[in-house]
Amino acid sequence: MGKITIAIDGYSSTGKSTIAKRLAKSLHYIYVDTGAMYRAVTLYALDHDLINDKGEINAPKLVEALPDIALKFVPNPETGRSDMHMNGQNVEEEIRSMRVSGKVSKVSAIKEVREKLVKMQQQMGKDKGIVMDGRDIGTVVFPDAELKLFMTASPETRAARRYKELLENGEEVSYAEVLKNVQERDLIDSTRSISPLKKAKDAIEFDNSDMGLEEQFERVHDFAQRVI
Ligand code: C5P
Repeated sequence: MGKITIAIDGYSSTGKSTIAKRLAKSLHYIYVDTGAMYRAVTLYALDHDLINDKGEINAPKLVEALPDIALKFVPNPETGRSDMHMNGQNVEEEIRSMRVSGKVSKVSAIKEVREKLVKMQQQMGKDKGIVMDGRDIGTVVFPDAELKLFMTASPETRAARRYKELLENGEEVSYAEVLKNVQERDLIDSTRSISPLKKAKDAIEFDNSDMGLEEQFERVHDFAQRVI
């Protein structure tokens, strides 16, 4: 078989992007972090006062502004990865903050936001040779993907991983706050009416709570080799 499409879905902070990035590199495939796209739209909404103090989103105004939000992944030679640029600005760091994490699931539940981003994602993957991670990749974006993984881990394991990352980025945050955010996002993401997070029927479920990075990578790489 030639190049394939690999869809990696799962709950927040399951380490999807770490594995997806590494897999893409080893296969010489493109990697796309769709969470970064939803996060960038959320940052736009926050910066344009489209989310009030109570956390309510002005959805009609945000939908109206969608054509003005240009998203692009730009390779960063320093890190060897791609950074999310929104309207020409590198927002990679800002989109990972708790300010954005706290609102992104609500923004992602808006139908028009999903329509715009899903279309872009399908375009990015039209020639295959892609590893894409998110919540609805195997169910909605690429239902015909040749390999689908659904990653899970306990909420505590996931919150501990995210907490460590945030501290490394210099963010002042407590573990309890991160755990609450992870649980809230899981709940909103899996119960929303449009494209809820769920395992595709033909996805391989992969619980990595007790697995180191090396072992995870080897297993996932092995799954891919069997299909390619
Ligand atoms: O993957 P990450 O945790 O960065 O995603 C942030 C949020 O973006 C998720 O909690 C979810 O609300 C939303 N998302 C989504 N569909 C995707 C990717 C992310 O709804 N394909």
